[in-house]
Amino acid sequence: MTMNGSKDELLTLGMESSCDDTGVALLRGQRTVVAELLASQIGDHAPFGGVIPEYAARKHLEAFLPLVESLFGEAGIHAPGEQIGLIAVTAGPGLIGSLAVGVTAAQALALAWNKPIVGVHHLEGHLFANIVSHPDLQPPFLCLIVSGGHTEIVLVRDLGQYEFLGGTRDDAAGEAYDKVAKELGLGYPGGPIVDRLAASGDPRAHDFPVPMKGRPEISFSFSGLKTAVVTEIHRQRAMGAGVQVEHLCASFQRAVVGSLMDRVDLAVRKTGVRTVALSGGVGANSALRKALQGQKNWRVYLPPLNRCTDNAVMIAAAGYSAYRRQGPAGTIVADPSWQLW
Ligand code: KG4
Ligand code: ZN
Repeated sequence: MTMNGSKDELLTLGMESSCDDTGVALLRGQRTVVAELLASQIGDHAPFGGVIPEYAARKHLEAFLPLVESLFGEAGIHAPGEQIGLIAVTAGPGLIGSLAVGVTAAQALALAWNKPIVGVHHLEGHLFANIVSHPDLQPPFLCLIVSGGHTEIVLVRDLGQYEFLGGTRDDAAGEAYDKVAKELGLGYPGGPIVDRLAASGDPRAHDFPVPMKGRPEISFSFSGLKTAVVTEIHRQRAMGAGVQVEHLCASFQRAVVGSLMDRVDLAVRKTGVRTVALSGGVGANSALRKALQGQKNWRVYLPPLNRCTDNAVMIAAAGYSAYRRQGPAGTIVADPSWQLW
């Protein structure tokens, strides 16, 4: 049986390596996940408190081909040259060495199997985590993208037609989580740890201001909040009574989530679009998900947790959609600062 016989049966191999996760996935059509695998480098970078770019690239290089082989084993792909219809690979933005490994591997496979290939923008990939997860989600919708490197609100007029409404002036939300966690000595990545500790803290213990609240323009800023939290940690340390980690995490999280919600609310009011989707690693945050679900006037779409953080399913989905709209790409070049919108 060939799986790429009819249009809807096209089988896409998705490949993701923009940061510290090597991801591969097989997607049939727009949203049927056939198989997926992820090799996380978290354990490799954790001792350094953050991602070491050159080390990440080397780890991707080691991981990719064995991962693709295991993926094919799981999915029962014996003749990829016949069964795969398209290769979709993250081409940017991200770490140049990591991206280059993925793009080179994808191009080699495309050449060997004589397959079309498309380069995917990593954030468009994050956005497609929602398309894969929710068959009923229709444009226009707003997408809040909150990851380790980006905090943005995008208006999706149609698939492939995006309008950037605003982003962060300094740190990304995930970056602020990671920096606060690092200061508290909690480990990397800090977001999930802070999220967990916040659950047993008092969000009102510290009156950290909600960044950008009430401001008329759609933009974010988290470095001031991060500094306020770090200053408070230093103050508590200097007092010698020990740091109240849970209270600090809960209060920091209240301010972050408050800011994100306030900015999305502004975007809803400015555009009149009440359908709101979430994506990116911070989209796994329990308080943010709860706050969004509590908005009864909006239609809210949340991807499952494993589709918020980096994965190759979302890349395959974005690549498939682009291919249906525009056909295959020419030469793909890894671009660490690729701007799509
Ligand atoms: O999207 P992602 O996997 O990689 C990037 O493209 O950046 O996002 C990773 C970021 C990290 O900063 C991590 O701390 C954060 O997402 N993160 C969280 C949670 N899970 C991951 N932040 C807050 N709460 C979480 N539960
Ligand atoms: Zn990401």
